[in-house]
Amino acid sequence: MVAQLFSSLCVLFCGCEEVEETVGTMKGMRFLYGSAVRWHGSANAFVRILARVLLIAAIVHNAATQKPEDGPYRGKYIGKFNSYHHQASGDVYAVDEYTFLLTGFNYDGNGIDTFFWSGASNRPGPQGFIVPDEYGKTNILERYFNKDFTLRLPDNKKITEVKWLAVYDLNSQNNFADVYIPEDFEPPVPQKAGSLTAIAGGPVVSSDTIDILDSKTIRITDFSYDGKAGGQAAVHFWVGVGPSPSSKGSKVPDEMGYLDPIRAYDRETITLELPGDMTIFDIDWFSVYDVEARRDYGSILISDDLNVPPSLVRVTPHTESLPNCRQLHKDYRVSWEVFGPQITIQLAGNVQQDEYMSFGLSGSEQRSQMLGADVAVAFIDGHRGYAVDYNITSLAPCVQVLGQNKGVCRDDVVGGLDSYQLHTFSRENDINTITYRRLLISSDSGDKEFLLDRPMYVVWAMGRLDSNNEPTYHDVYPKRNVQINFNTTEPVNDCFSFTSREANLKDVWERQQIFDRSVRSFTATLGPAGGKRGYQGITGHVSNGLAWYINGFLVPELWLRRGLTYSFRVRGGNNPHSPEFYHPLVITDEPHGGFDRLSDARQSEIRVLAGVEFTRRGRPKPTAAGPLCLARHPDGQDRRLDDNFATFKKFNRTLKWTCDSGDPAILEITPNTSWPDVVYYNSFTHANMGWKIHIVDSYSQSTRSRGEATASVRSSSHTVRIFLITGSLVVWAWLWK
Ligand SMILES: *[C@@H]1O[C@H](CO)[C@@H](O)[C@H](O)[C@H]1NC(C)=O
Ligand SMILES: *[C@@H]1O[C@H](CO)[C@@H](O)[C@H](O)[C@H]1NC(C)=O
Ligand SMILES: *[C@@H]1O[C@H](CO)[C@@H](O)[C@H](O)[C@H]1NC(C)=O
Ligand SMILES: *[C@@H]1O[C@H](CO)[C@@H](O)[C@H](O)[C@H]1NC(C)=O
Repeated sequence: MVAQLFSSLCVLFCGCEEVEETVGTMKGMRFLYGSAVRWHGSANAFVRILARVLLIAAIVHNAATQKPEDGPYRGKYIGKFNSYHHQASGDVYAVDEYTFLLTGFNYDGNGIDTFFWSGASNRPGPQGFIVPDEYGKTNILERYFNKDFTLRLPDNKKITEVKWLAVYDLNSQNNFADVYIPEDFEPPVPQKAGSLTAIAGGPVVSSDTIDILDSKTIRITDFSYDGKAGGQAAVHFWVGVGPSPSSKGSKVPDEMGYLDPIRAYDRETITLELPGDMTIFDIDWFSVYDVEARRDYGSILISDDLNVPPSLVRVTPHTESLPNCRQLHKDYRVSWEVFGPQITIQLAGNVQQDEYMSFGLSGSEQRSQMLGADVAVAFIDGHRGYAVDYNITSLAPCVQVLGQNKGVCRDDVVGGLDSYQLHTFSRENDINTITYRRLLISSDSGDKEFLLDRPMYVVWAMGRLDSNNEPTYHDVYPKRNVQINFNTTEPVNDCFSFTSREANLKDVWERQQIFDRSVRSFTATLGPAGGKRGYQGITGHVSNGLAWYINGFLVPELWLRRGLTYSFRVRGGNNPHSPEFYHPLVITDEPHGGFDRLSDARQSEIRVLAGVEFTRRGRPKPTAAGPLCLARHPDGQDRRLDDNFATFKKFNRTLKWTCDSGDPAILEITPNTSWPDVVYYNSFTHANMGWKIHIVDSYSQSTRSRGEATASVRSSSHTVRIFLITGSLVVWAWLWK
């Protein structure tokens, strides 16, 4: 009867296959039951077992009550480490089928050969395997003090396939701490939550399954919305509490982080993240909702207590400093205050170190328009912050056109004044916060006035800075009108905390090579640079939006042989009055181009191989400017979605070409022994539009593969760079419920 009782206990706690052995190795049991060994041999078997039953009950009870109740959602609780040696202790959760989360973990680091150790045997012992540490490494463990991190089981092993996790010394075969996986443990996994169907009389809204991937992430498969909710509609992804969707709710940023009304979708699979610190446990429904008409166009209910993985995002709490705040994008907000004749504006954005934030008054009084806008460009360069006044007279980088600066130019180079006064700046947790001031009515007559008697149209953008700290083509910007009422009589604040996660890395489009001895003629035209997978991903340079297309390919690498003559048929625009579309082709030994904009000192360092003549006074003059042949996005195609194209070919197929008549300019070159092995084709006027030319002595495969090897080394560093948002893998945000 005793054996029976014991074996039924074992069924509960150890799994049944090793009942005999378990009974026989009471001493080993101490790893499981801790101080249970104190009774070993001292009382009769029945009392011992009774004691064990009570102890087990206590452990089970403890495990349940010691779970930190009020904390943020961390996944499914497994238990506390049973601590035996070296102060190894902490709490253990499962965050998904493969991954443990350790919280408040401690270990004194004094073990000789100590690892995280797991196995399928009944208790920790020599049979097991190393669980790589929080960095994925199998190094000997060092000291931990109150640390939170995740451990992923190796080789796609599942938590349900192991029985315990331990801190174990392989040298002494000594167990420092362990925790057991309950027998019927169900690790958190993504959950299905119905699908969207249109509401009678509403626009077409539909989807396949909606998955709750984790506590903040919703994936909608094959989502469609026809965009036909009417002119006044403001349709958003919308969440809230209560029995059914209502106007009392919050916007969920779209899949790109925008808070504008959603665009039309045609069977697209999109992933949405709940804003700020909100989790799936805070909401009862998810809807495609018209905030203007207060109508639900399709929704699902979210059940309570979903056993989903916790979210991996890092939440940086929103701290208010100015009374009014508008969230412009998931990663960008503006706040402001008006005091007397002065306005104070604070921009805060989740940006890289070399990125700028811009914000200002629209160039039009009827809509948000970049052209003619009066904006501040704010950034931090090393230890200095800037908020620089810009005037946008053309949607191109600032260039000299017949002696006048045009484009996105600093006020002080177009005859105005820098009217912004920098107040404070900081960079913390990848967030730039920059505060500046201006008079409502600036003393520079070219600046626009901040009006308080009506809402004003504004423009905003984020993008990269070039090496001169000038803004380049923006990456993140709104498509819809944005209005702000700067009058602070009735404060507004819809801001939420910033979140960041490891961005999904998308592969760069194929790096095209033209390696063909029979090709002696190249046609150079212009087209859009593509998103992060296009020019930026291929070259690692910051794009200004336009790039060279050579023989129909986006910035291919060319392979030319010394001694042969090649000709470029150049169609990059030949109107020197155009700030956007005047692009003579040049070949130099420097990767960026934009020769005309460089200082004399910099120009003198560059070897020009073709495309530039020098006048008698030493001024550079381009020689290869041909009529414009330009590929553009078709009307209505959103360039912010360029990264959704899997290949350049697919992207290229959507473009619309317009080519001016007239013969192309011909640039003929004959590389000789004085040419370096790598040169670059670029635009004379703007930086960062072209790419490499390899100069070889013969077209043999070995020269090419040598070149490619260096190319691929470089490309891996690009891959690292095109992470949209960097976040540390093991940074965990405690999302307070
Ligand atoms: C900005 O450009 C406009 C022309 O588009 C001009 O009227 C205005 O004076 C300029 N502002 C400054 C500060 O130069
Ligand atoms: C700001 O708004 C308040 C209330 O809406 C209004 O009374 C006041 O005149 C406005 N201020 C200005 C300068 O227009
Ligand atoms: C891109 O499109 C143009 C025009 O349709 C075509 O001539 C060119 O060959 C295409 N490029 C590629 C790589 O398919
Ligand atoms: C080699 O090429 C450069 C640049 O095109 C040219 O200036 C130079 O005269 C050439 N040298 C010879 C020996 O042809």
